[in-house]
Amino acid sequence: MIQKLSAATTLAGSIDLPGDKSISHRYAMLAAVAEGESVIRRFAASRDCHSTLGCLRALGVAVAEDGDAVTIQGRGLRGLQAPAQTLDAENSGTTIRLLSGILAGHGFECSITGDASLSNRPMGRIMEPLRLMGAHVESRERSLPPLRLRGGALNGIRYTLPVASAQVKSCVLLAGLYAQGATAVRETVPTRDHTEIALREFGGEVRADGEWLEVAPNPRLQGRRLAVPGDLSGAAFFLVAAAIVPGAALTLPGVGLNGRRRELLNYLRRAGMDLFVENETVEAGEARGDLYACYNADFLKKGLPAIKGAEVAALIDEIPVLAVLGSQTAGGVEISDAQELRVKESDRIAAVADNLRALGVEVEERQDGLRVAGGRRLRGADIETRKDHRIAMAFAVAGLVAEGETRIHDAECANVSFPGFWDALESIAR
Ligand code: S3P
Repeated sequence: MIQKLSAATTLAGSIDLPGDKSISHRYAMLAAVAEGESVIRRFAASRDCHSTLGCLRALGVAVAEDGDAVTIQGRGLRGLQAPAQTLDAENSGTTIRLLSGILAGHGFECSITGDASLSNRPMGRIMEPLRLMGAHVESRERSLPPLRLRGGALNGIRYTLPVASAQVKSCVLLAGLYAQGATAVRETVPTRDHTEIALREFGGEVRADGEWLEVAPNPRLQGRRLAVPGDLSGAAFFLVAAAIVPGAALTLPGVGLNGRRRELLNYLRRAGMDLFVENETVEAGEARGDLYACYNADFLKKGLPAIKGAEVAALIDEIPVLAVLGSQTAGGVEISDAQELRVKESDRIAAVADNLRALGVEVEERQDGLRVAGGRRLRGADIETRKDHRIAMAFAVAGLVAEGETRIHDAECANVSFPGFWDALESIAR
């Protein structure tokens, strides 16, 4: 599907965000290996989270969906059943990497694969620690999916993460539930901590010991009733839209404000954006609140602060749309230390550079990032999304301020994290 966009005069209204994708994956997986029933409200409608549910069903888990509420009958820590076929994680890196940690603790042999994009994403980063723990893990050449796993008796390890990745950290922590003795991970750069928080909520034990995060083996996880907060990474597209469309004023109720994710808000505020949080609460260890974002012409007269170092991991999913924002400020933006973006659903450095250039922006592409020039009025163009949801949505935001028509190719890929995105955008554009 090609989605056509033209410049918006202004934006106004409230956006109903889907549930957070990262948190939904974790709640579903932990509910599956807990004892008793879990009910998860505002479960992410995203295709990725449904890939997780599909895998869990194939592993013998009873999953019922009613609107955005998902009820899961837990099978206990070692209760998953050998699947009849290869598990399909489709487009979802979180599904394959986190679920592999759980599968490594089960005694059966199984395979897990994904679509063309996922089949080109590196799995060596989880294969190494799982093998150190004693699991048998094989892959296609160059550590690419499909993965073939045979787990069982694992031993605890102390593991320093070689890449800043919450997925790798989570894979090791989840496998640690099945180990003999404690498993500890150390990250040199902090990444999102939803797994640690969710494990505690389900009754597991994860404790910080200096730089190390240690998970206790063999917990009796208990089913829970939980509500997922709105997805801050989905909100990011609308926050940037509010920053660049004159006169815009948007409300985003019930958004997840986890400390490791909200760097986006700190960054935008530091850049000078008018952004307010109200009604902040914490439920199941996850902060949430209402966001208000308004256009402020002065904000665009400067450049954006450079994005580099530890900040990259905190903003990893938002960088494509922040590059679009940078192009609309007078000074542009420089992004470095972001080579991880090359192994996401697409090579996001190349995808952002190519599409910004198509819109008339000067971009210098580097191995680990981009230098995006500012101050140029965008001109509508054909956007090649590479079927990557975040590229599609980032450039939809660009289309709101481009002269003439912007055509987003394969626009349905937005469903991977944000079904309803195109309707939401239409509902606020004036
Ligand atoms: C995620 C972690 C990040 C992020 C992805 C979701 C998670 O990936 O980009 O969208 O849910 O743990 P990495 O762990 O590969 O950085």
